[in-house]
Formats: sequence, structure tokens, C-alpha cells
Amino acid sequence: MAKLVYSAIASLDSNVADEDGNFDWAVPDEEVHTFINDLDRPLGTYLYGRRMYETMVGWENDHSLAEQSPLMRDFAELWQAADKIVYSGTLEAVSTARTRIEREFDPEAVRKMKASAGRDMIVGGPDLAAQAFRAGLVDEYHLFVAPIVVGGGKRSLPDDVCVKLELLGERRFGNGMVYLHYRTRT
Ligand SMILES: NC(=O)c1ccc[n+]([C@@H]2O[C@H](COP(=O)([O-])OP(=O)(O)OC[C@H]3O[C@@H](n4cnc5c(N)ncnc54)[C@H](OP(=O)(O)O)[C@@H]3O)[C@@H](O)[C@H]2O)c1
Repeated sequence: MAKLVYSAIASLDSNVADEDGNFDWAVPDEEVHTFINDLDRPLGTYLYGRRMYETMVGWENDHSLAEQSPLMRDFAELWQAADKIVYSGTLEAVSTARTRIEREFDPEAVRKMKASAGRDMIVGGPDLAAQAFRAGLVDEYHLFVAPIVVGGGKRSLPDDVCVKLELLGERRFGNGMVYLHYRTRT
């Protein structure tokens, strides 16, 4: 059975973007990016809410990103190699390869995907992930806490979900970010 992982970079007050939609403070530096590349390397499928997908398409469509450094090229190649499922009621077409649109989030379909997938899967952003939390589909959390309080914005985790977690690991980075790795306790 493949695992479904929720991954997010959030402020200390648990927002992935501030009230103006900014998340420049969440951009990983080289050390964090290297770590994220290695976390993402084994993943086979990304489940994206439409908004998160739109912030990620540059990894395939904007070649200047990959040209910035070998590290960025590595991430672009990882991203392009993975399968992507975008959940959206409005998106008419996708602009990246290995990508399909789903019009509804069907927990049973995701459960079946987990049962048949050969590689782990990841879910983001928070609106879509909230539905996966509510359906009990999220097995692990890769949470990066950025050293900032933004006072509001887009919450990383929903209010109406209660999950007991086991801490599997943590890491502190030179830029003040902290990585917390949890798994859902059954
Ligand atoms: N901190 C970081 O590193 C970082 C990185 C990237 C982005 N961000 C931020 O993260 C946020 C993105 O997350 P988000 O929570 O706002 O949005 P999201 O979960 O990525 O996308 C929400 C959209 O997904 C679609 N969707 C959700 N549930 C659905 C369902 N059951 N059936 C069909 N479609 C469904 C809808 O698209 P339609 O409206 O098309 O129907 C909905 O508007 C943005 O604020 C972005 O700026 C932060």
C-alpha cells in the first residue's frame, strides 16, 4: 500500500500564505531545497488542488527556473517525471505532461489509488488536503516551519480535523526553518 503524504511549508502560526497571498518567506534556500528534492524523489503521484497546481506548473513550463542551478534542474526533472492529478471544477485544460483533471475529490478512488500505486503519493494545497484529512487518507506529514509569524492567511491545516500523530523525525536548517516528520497514529 502506497502512503499519502501531506507536505507544506508554513509560518509558525501555520499559514502557507499570508492574507495578501504572499509566501516569499516560504521559498526554500539551497539547503532546504536539497532536502526537499530528496524527500520528493521517491514519490510517484502528486494530488493537487487547482491553486497549488497553478503555482507549480513553472517547473515544467518556465525553463528559466531549471536553468538557475543544478538543484533547481533536479527538482524540475523530479516534478516532470511524476504523475499529477489536479482537482478542479474550473480548469479547462492542463498545461503539463503526465497530468489529468478530476472534477471531484472521491476518497474511495484515492483509497484505491493508494492500494495499487507502486510509489508514495503527495497531496497539496491545504483546501484539497483538508478533504484527504477528513477522509482519513493522510498517512504522513512533511511539515516545514518557517521562522515567521504572518498573523493570518491560508491555514496549513484545517480547524475541523483531529488526528493523533507520532513524530518520526525532525531537522533544523541554517535559515531557521524546521522540518517535522509525523505519521498518523492509528
Ligand atoms: N507555502 C508555500 O510554500 C506555498 C507554495 C505554493 C503555494 N502556496 C499557497 O498555497 C495556497 C494554495 O492552496 P489552497 O488551499 O488555496 O488551494 P488548493 O487546495 O491548492 O486548490 C483549491 C482548488 O482546488 C479545487 N478543488 C478543491 N477541492 C475540490 C474538489 N472536492 N473537487 C474539485 N475541485 C476541488 C478547486 O478548484 P476550482 O476553483 O478550479 O474548482 C479549489 O478552488 C495558495 O494560497 C498559494 O499561494 C504556498
